[in-house]
Amino acid sequence: MNDRTNRYISLVEDALMEYLRDARIPQKLREAMQYSAKAGGKRLRPCLTLAACEMAGGNVENALPLACGIEMIHTYSLIHDDLPCMDDDDMRRGMPSNHKVFGEALAVLAGDGLLTYAFQIMLRAAKTQNKNYINAISAIANGAGVWGMVAGQVDDMAYEHDENAGEKELLDIHSRKTGALITAALIAGLYTGYPSQDEINAIVEFGEIYGVLFQITDDILDVEGDASILGKTTGKDSKSDKLTYPKLYGMSQSRRMAVEAALKAKKALSIFGERANYLSYIVDYTIARKI
Ligand code: IPE
Ligand code: IPE
Ligand code: MG
Ligand code: MG
Ligand code: MG
Repeated sequence: MNDRTNRYISLVEDALMEYLRDARIPQKLREAMQYSAKAGGKRLRPCLTLAACEMAGGNVENALPLACGIEMIHTYSLIHDDLPCMDDDDMRRGMPSNHKVFGEALAVLAGDGLLTYAFQIMLRAAKTQNKNYINAISAIANGAGVWGMVAGQVDDMAYEHDENAGEKELLDIHSRKTGALITAALIAGLYTGYPSQDEINAIVEFGEIYGVLFQITDDILDVEGDASILGKTTGKDSKSDKLTYPKLYGMSQSRRMAVEAALKAKKALSIFGERANYLSYIVDYTIARKI
């Protein structure tokens, strides 16, 4: 973690906790929402939003509600992903999964709550921002919803135990279940600055490559990661016979593909010159990550 990451994380966590203290949220629901949001995690997506904002000459204060909204949406996706009817995982972010503590019904509702509340806070902030803010929120909805993450999660389940599924299906799953929200986090941040159309195109290209790369490393860590460092159970993908990079290509080829994607992702940033140094650093960090 470098200084810039620490600065972003501290901004995001303070604002996130403040939002989640809202006394209008019934206490039990609030506790369940806070539990998973507080549990930690890398805060990668909000960091990407704030970094993209600064890269386009924006002020991070303006991007903060978007960054928090995206982290809430991501947190909801993890709560639902862990449910017994989905991946059935008991550990998340180093703690028992939300449904293990609050029960399945409240876990579903805490996820629903985080998703809807994210749009409440982002739209509230939009009232005092320019029209690009609505474009940013729209990008987030597109990435998180039925064209993006939700669709990817459906395919992730559909292609379990499917020996005919291959390269195309795998890329489809990863680019939507993980890449779409990551790309949206970047686009949203960029919109809070003063990007050119070429810069917007470049960040989309970067997000699409980097998002898939991030999920390749998640697949690799599910095979060879240390659960006590990762904070989640390992070995689950092969147990559920998920369509992953290691399943389709094996471990060494998956590692090579991750490194190739990292090079391609960095190339996509060239238009930003030195302003993209932080995102390049994030790519290197992702390739080497153990958590
Ligand atoms: C986990 O995401 C789910 C995926 C999309 C791979 P992260 O690895 O970013 O999880 P946290 O936020 O750090 O817990
Ligand atoms: C999750 O993918 C993607 C989401 C949209 C949550 P995984 O199922 O591989 O994520 P982990 O490994 O449980 O974090
Ligand atoms: Mg899953
Ligand atoms: Mg999972
Ligand atoms: Mg995984």
